[in-house]
Amino acid sequence: MSAKEIVIWPAKVLQTATRPVTDFGEPLQALLARMDAAVRDAEGVGIAANQIGVDLRVALVGREDGTFFEIVNPELKATDGKIKLREGCLSVPDEWDEAPRFQKISVRYQDRDAKWHEVEAEGRLAHVFQHEIDHLDGRVFVDLLSPLKKGLIRERMVKLQKFLKKKSESA
Ligand code: CO
Repeated sequence: MSAKEIVIWPAKVLQTATRPVTDFGEPLQALLARMDAAVRDAEGVGIAANQIGVDLRVALVGREDGTFFEIVNPELKATDGKIKLREGCLSVPDEWDEAPRFQKISVRYQDRDAKWHEVEAEGRLAHVFQHEIDHLDGRVFVDLLSPLKKGLIRERMVKLQKFLKKKSESA
């Protein structure tokens, strides 16, 4: 179920805040290409760099038309309204639950050429921005659930990781 390049929670890299990007050279362009391939392969609506094991503040956020915002060093600027939405995550396969999110947000971010942009989003798009920026801060949606739910999901993910490890060793 999980795409092969995606790191499964609770891996440490997913629980650690990523580092800001300062070098906008070739390695960043290559990272964006790898992330684009990984999110399309997994049919995701967004992906953060630490989900492929890279400790940098870079994410892709899916637009309704299937293209992606490339966001580097994003900052969540303003928020408005509260909403609970069902969400899942490529790093927490087959788990879905309602996490508290803001209805409207504003995000400041740099593009691959280091130019700053500001975008306002609401509804589904705002939701994906919050989910991906959370990843970059070392949080997943499971962290927003009750301790009981979080504990159960953690157990299932640890089992899944063991299963995937065995499978890769026997392949
Ligand atoms: Co996610």
